[in-house]
Amino acid sequence: MRLDEQHAHLAEAMAERGLWPERAPWIRRAVEDLPRHRFAPDRLWSWDGSAGVYVPVDRAADPGRWAAEVYAGPDAPAVTQITGGRASSSLSCPAVVVDMLDSLLLEPGRRVLELGTGTGWNAALLAHRAGPGRVTSVEVDASLAAGAEARLVAAGAQVAVQVGDGTAGWAQDAPYDRVIATYAVEEVPWAWVEQTRPGGRIVTPWGRLGHVALTVADGGRAASGWMQGLGMFMPARGTGQGAPFHRIRDRHPLEVEGPFPRSLDALAGPEGGHLLFALRVLLPEVHITTETGDRGGVTAWLHDGHTSWATLAPRAGTDAGPGAGVVARQGGPRRLADEVLRAWTVWEERGAPGLYDFGLTRTEHEQWMWSGDPDGPHWQPLETAAVH
Ligand SMILES: C[S@@+](CC[C@H](N)C(=O)[O-])C[C@H]1O[C@@H](n2cnc3c(N)ncnc32)[C@H](O)[C@@H]1O
Repeated sequence: MRLDEQHAHLAEAMAERGLWPERAPWIRRAVEDLPRHRFAPDRLWSWDGSAGVYVPVDRAADPGRWAAEVYAGPDAPAVTQITGGRASSSLSCPAVVVDMLDSLLLEPGRRVLELGTGTGWNAALLAHRAGPGRVTSVEVDASLAAGAEARLVAAGAQVAVQVGDGTAGWAQDAPYDRVIATYAVEEVPWAWVEQTRPGGRIVTPWGRLGHVALTVADGGRAASGWMQGLGMFMPARGTGQGAPFHRIRDRHPLEVEGPFPRSLDALAGPEGGHLLFALRVLLPEVHITTETGDRGGVTAWLHDGHTSWATLAPRAGTDAGPGAGVVARQGGPRRLADEVLRAWTVWEERGAPGLYDFGLTRTEHEQWMWSGDPDGPHWQPLETAAVH
C-alpha cells in the first residue's frame, strides 16, 4: 500500500472507532492536510520482544516496514529516538494526539505554547488551527528541534521552534492562550500557569496514565481541571525510571506468599484503567503492569523501581480463568501487595471513582488531586514505608 493509502486507511480506522471528535472537525482536516509520514524521520525504532531491545528500521533499506511503523494504528506510537536503550522521542499515537487537541479547545488566532516538539507533527497540527506565527514549541534535544524545524518549514507551517527545558515554559512569547505538553509530568510546572492568560487552558499528560485539562483562574493564582483521557506518554527527560521488575526480583528473594483477597479482573481491560489510576494517585512510586492469559486469568507485576516487588497471580490448581483465587508473592523491604490492597480498599471506601471523576489543582506552592468536587477532600499519596 502507498503511504497516502495507509494514511487514508488510518483515518478510516479512527472513524470506525469514533475517534474523530465531532465538536472539533478541524482536527481531522488538519491531520488529512498534514500526514504523519511527512514528519517521521528516516530511521525509526521497533521493539524486538524476543531480544528485549529496540532495533532500527531504516526507510531506505525497508520502506514497507518503515511505513508499517508510522501507520501501525490509532493506538501505536512510532519511536523516533532511543537514549540509553529507552524510547526518548516518538511520533505519538494518533488517537492520543487527537484526543489531546480536542481537550485543548483551540480556536483560530490563539497563541499556543507546545512543550516537547519531537518530530514537529503536533506543532504543525496546532499551527494549522491557530494560524501562522501563533505557535511556539520547545524541545530539550537540539538535534530533534533542528529536524522538526526543517520538516515544519517543508510543510509550510510557521512555528517558532526553541531549544530549552520545557519546565521553564518559554517566557519570551508569553502570555499564551493555550499550553500543551507532549511528555508526562508529575507536577505541572508553575511557569506554565504563570505564562497562561487567566481563562486559558493547559493540557498535559499527568503521571503517565492520562491527560488533564486545567483552566487558569482569574488573577492567575491557580489552575484546575478534570482528567480527560487515558493517554500514556513518555516522561520528561531526566526523570529517573528506576530499575525494571526483573532486576529487582533477581536481587531480592521471595519473602512472603499468601492469598490476595480481591479479583484481579478489576485491574484488566479498559475498565481496569480506573482502578489503576486511583492506585497511581495513592501509591505514586508503585509501577503496576498486568497481562490477561489465554484463559482469561489476570496476572499483575508490581515494583517500586528500587528494592521491592510483588506479583499477583491466579492460584495454581484453579482453572486460572476470570475470578480465580489470587496468590500474592512479595520480596524486598516494602510489602507492595499489602500496600496495593490498602489503596484498593481506600478507593472502594471513597466510592470507587473512575478516571474521569478525578481532577488536579495547581497553585504556586502546591498540587493536589481531588475527585468529584474541586473543593472536596484532597487525594494525597498514602503513607508508605518507602525504603530506597
Ligand atoms: C512523545 S515525544 C513528542 C511528540 C511530538 N509532539 C511530535 O509531534 O512528534 C516527547 C518529546 O518531549 C521531549 N521532552 C521531554 N522532556 C522535555 C523537557 N523537559 N523539555 C522539552 N522537551 C522535552 C522529548 O525530547 C520528546 O521529543
